[in-house]
Amino acid sequence: MQRKRRRTVVVVRYVITCALCMIALFALLHVHLKAFLPSEFIKLPEPCKLPTLDVACGSLEEDNLWKRPPNRDYVPCFEPSSSYTSPGESRGYLLVNTNGGLNQMRAGISDMVAVARIINATLVIPELDKSSFWQDTSNFSDVFDEDYFVNSLSNDVKIIKKLPKEMETAAKAVKLFRSWSGIDYYQEDIASMWEEYQVIRAAKSDSRLANNNLPPDIQKLRCRAFYEALRFAPQIELLVDRMKSYGRYIALHLRYEKDMLAFSGCTQDLSPEEADELRILRENTSHWKVKDIDPMEQRAKGLCPLTPKEVGMFLNASGVPSNTPIYIAAGDIYGGDARMADLQSRYPLLMNKGKLASVEELEPFANYASQMAALDYIVSVESDIFIPSYSGNMARAVEGHRRFLEHRKTISPDRKALVRLFDKIKQGTMKEGKNMWNRIAEIQKRRKGSPRKRKGPISGTKGMDRFRSEEAFYVNPLPDCLCRKESPIVNSSFIIK
Ligand SMILES: *[C@@H]1O[C@H](CO)[C@@H](O)[C@H](O)[C@H]1NC(C)=O
Ligand SMILES: *[C@@H]1O[C@H](CO)[C@@H](O)[C@H](O)[C@H]1NC(C)=O
Ligand SMILES: *[C@@H]1O[C@H](CO)[C@@H](O)[C@H](O)[C@H]1NC(C)=O
Ligand SMILES: *[C@@H]1O[C@H](CO)[C@@H](O)[C@H](O)[C@H]1NC(C)=O
Ligand SMILES: *[C@@H]1O[C@H](CO)[C@@H](O)[C@H](O)[C@H]1NC(C)=O
Repeated sequence: MQRKRRRTVVVVRYVITCALCMIALFALLHVHLKAFLPSEFIKLPEPCKLPTLDVACGSLEEDNLWKRPPNRDYVPCFEPSSSYTSPGESRGYLLVNTNGGLNQMRAGISDMVAVARIINATLVIPELDKSSFWQDTSNFSDVFDEDYFVNSLSNDVKIIKKLPKEMETAAKAVKLFRSWSGIDYYQEDIASMWEEYQVIRAAKSDSRLANNNLPPDIQKLRCRAFYEALRFAPQIELLVDRMKSYGRYIALHLRYEKDMLAFSGCTQDLSPEEADELRILRENTSHWKVKDIDPMEQRAKGLCPLTPKEVGMFLNASGVPSNTPIYIAAGDIYGGDARMADLQSRYPLLMNKGKLASVEELEPFANYASQMAALDYIVSVESDIFIPSYSGNMARAVEGHRRFLEHRKTISPDRKALVRLFDKIKQGTMKEGKNMWNRIAEIQKRRKGSPRKRKGPISGTKGMDRFRSEEAFYVNPLPDCLCRKESPIVNSSFIIK
């Protein structure tokens, strides 16, 4: 009897102690939470929503969002084969004029490394495009780590910084290499030029080398050049650590810039004045060949970049919590802050170059389009999730780079299917909510950047169009530079014991 009573007392004491602990804990949390929540609305939060505890525990849905797609055991494989030799004796010098924006130039330079190897040339550090649309006077070393480039490819190609003085009077040829050429063209047509010339200048660098059907060691060399040797100059990495200090982040390539909209003829959500301004810019830009564009048709085909507002709906539907840090990889957004207002209200933690660095820090890059693009490129490659609003050169280059880095997550919006839903919302025949989110989840199911083989030409296409329709080498280096990890050898004799 007595023992029973004593036990009751013990239990009661426990209960009281626990209750006191809970009250104390609640009071403590209450004080802390005031910093985060509007004071009238203090509820006991679900522990995982607490900003400070995010790392320790996230909801299942959130874990799913950040999870990489299954890599199916594909890992980078770009080491040369055992029969690979050091570069052959140099037969002459290859000078390269690159062309296009940053991403075209990076691909072109990597291809020219492979070409120099094939024709036994000494490669002179390529000249960046200074005459293109961007009017960028950057030199190679302003964008890339030149010494690293030279040294890391020393077993593949001889690379020098300048043509030797005594070669200035040598016999030179300027040659526009044929687009998407295979190894025979370079080994025969181009290498035979050494009989007459000591210096060959490649007039262009983009798409000169075929995507497919090249020897494996040449393909792997392209990857070593593109993913490894073409490292950015240290100053270009300015923003990476600053963005990472916000925790897990999304890089959003918001290609909603004036040139893009003028070029593509997309006018969704623009005023008639804005649409006119863009049309005039298009008509007045001689290297844009297509002038007469039906904006509605263009959009219905999925050829328009998503608007900032559409991106906001898309992120929300994809389960991106509103407190997620988002890096906007882009130049000036057409329409400025007003056009960003909806996205900004859904996602207050929008970052960009201007928010992560001071005016003085950005000043040295300001007039150099390729350096500005490189700042965004590296933050995008390093992000936890990359989302392009349009599949241009930059989006595809970053996507390929992330595939190479063991399939970091890239969410590619299916614009054609999405704009149909967005139009329904605009017309009021559908509401943002569970139904729409499920539809979007279904549309996006297979668009997370998981491993697949590079796509070949579209059937029925012929000649140059056939090559043009192929997925480009650096957009998806599988199977050439991503191989299946061999499953560990199971030693059966060991297991039986
Ligand atoms: C390049 O050099 C290698 C090794 O010396 C040789 O086998 C090959 O035929 C050369 N190729 C050309 C195109 O000169
Ligand atoms: C690039 O190099 C050239 C020649 O060395 C030099 O005149 C020019 O100023 C350099 N450009 C930049 C942006 O530094
Ligand atoms: C088109 O370009 C020309 C020359 O580049 C310029 O003189 C003209 O003002 C431009 N027109 C418009 C409408 O921008
Ligand atoms: C999406 O937006 C709705 C309505 O504003 C909101 O209730 C929901 O929590 C958002 N989803 C995410 C993942 O933040
Ligand atoms: C398996 O294990 C046995 C003994 O542990 C060893 O002698 C043999 O070489 C191993 N075989 C392989 C294929 O590793």
